[in-house]
Amino acid sequence: MDQFVIKGGSRLRGEVRISGAKNSTLPIMAASLLADGQSTIRGVPELADVRNMAELLGDLGAAVSQTGDGQFQIRPEDETACHARYDRVRKMRASICVLGPLLAKRKKARVAMPGGCAIGSRPVNLHLRGLRALGAEIDLDGGDIVVKAKKLTGAEIFLGGPFGSTVLGTANVMMAATLAEGTTVIESAACEPEIQDLADYLNAMGARIRGAGTPRLLIDGVDELRGAEHQIIPDRIEAGTFMIAAAMSNGEVKLSNVRTDHMMAVTDKLREIGVTIEATDGGVVVCSARRLEPTDVTTQPYPGFPTDLQAQLTALLCLADGNSAITEKIFPDRFMHVAELLRMGANIRKEGPTAIVTGVKRLVGAPVMASDLRASAALVLAGLIARGATAVSRVYHIDRGYEHIEVKLRSLGADIQRVSGS
Ligand code: EPZ
Repeated sequence: MDQFVIKGGSRLRGEVRISGAKNSTLPIMAASLLADGQSTIRGVPELADVRNMAELLGDLGAAVSQTGDGQFQIRPEDETACHARYDRVRKMRASICVLGPLLAKRKKARVAMPGGCAIGSRPVNLHLRGLRALGAEIDLDGGDIVVKAKKLTGAEIFLGGPFGSTVLGTANVMMAATLAEGTTVIESAACEPEIQDLADYLNAMGARIRGAGTPRLLIDGVDELRGAEHQIIPDRIEAGTFMIAAAMSNGEVKLSNVRTDHMMAVTDKLREIGVTIEATDGGVVVCSARRLEPTDVTTQPYPGFPTDLQAQLTALLCLADGNSAITEKIFPDRFMHVAELLRMGANIRKEGPTAIVTGVKRLVGAPVMASDLRASAALVLAGLIARGATAVSRVYHIDRGYEHIEVKLRSLGADIQRVSGS
């Protein structure tokens, strides 16, 4: 397994282009199963999860080809193949978002129930509640979700759960509703930009979706959807990760291909800490005061502070001048990065869903282990500013969601090498 070996101390300087959003790309690729005909998706990031989704769509009878830099063409062909197998789903939870399209287009599907992962249990009860409301019959058989329906009928559905709405649950039910008979109302829908991006693609295919980006979605069912062309929105989580890297290293970095309107909670919080973020032609320039202020932050559904940047912000606050409280309200167990940051000399203590961080003068490089996608990114950021060398193992986690992160960081002056492991 590959490692990243990082020698800390470089101040990041230069320009980096943000890639297309992973969490837009995956449901949009799944949505292509709804079309009679070929779709062309542009701005697709080169990620392990994208390769996995392409293979899964192949298992499900679609012809998937990469026809250019970041460009994929997807054409459903064999609609009899409706089984998303466990060995595929367990590697990528987002596989669950083929459920809605298969049910709507083929009226049946067998999708392995995704297991838990490092950030906690990942239930899908809200997905199933929504699909059942549209008329699906749902059984569990040998760890697989088996769904079928003679037809789908529009319904009024509440998708709120104990932690707010569900992003992929909203995606699944919205996709299924596009081909249902009549109108579906989804109350407490997820408002993430990635849901808006998915709705834009579905409407380009001929769907009739209103209210995307608000908690109340209205979908008027249609008889069929055609292939469409779509450009993926920039990845707000990658952008936030690089903003934090620039701030931690006390550097000055220009990010291009950024939608700061998708990142208000993030830029607001970083400015409060002492990070300067200024719009410039086609992007933003990020730099920071040497002294970073502590803060309190709670992760929330969009437009609140995103859980996917919690670990990275925690790494930054390890260097702030005082005590910070980081409360994780979406995935309360999402603190696998804390134990590894402690190995690097951070001062963090857990109190339930809150991490109390006391700033230290400096972190010290150490061998650390990645556990999930965003925790891995936090450890890389910590290594960039730690004294000495940091070896981050199991970087396959990070390859799932960041396009050539070590190449981008090296282009900004970081001393980071990928070392092929056994
Ligand atoms: C999406 O996961 C993202 N993944 C996650 O990003 C992100 O952390 C998450 O949304 C929250 O923003 C993709 O888009 C591929 P949820 P999703 O359903 O949709 C509970 C990353 O690092 N819940 O919005 O699976 C759930 O336990 C990944 O890129 C139920 O209770 O997350 C959680 O507490 C990690 N029942 C909360 O809702 C359900 O049926 C939010 O989960 C579904 C979810």
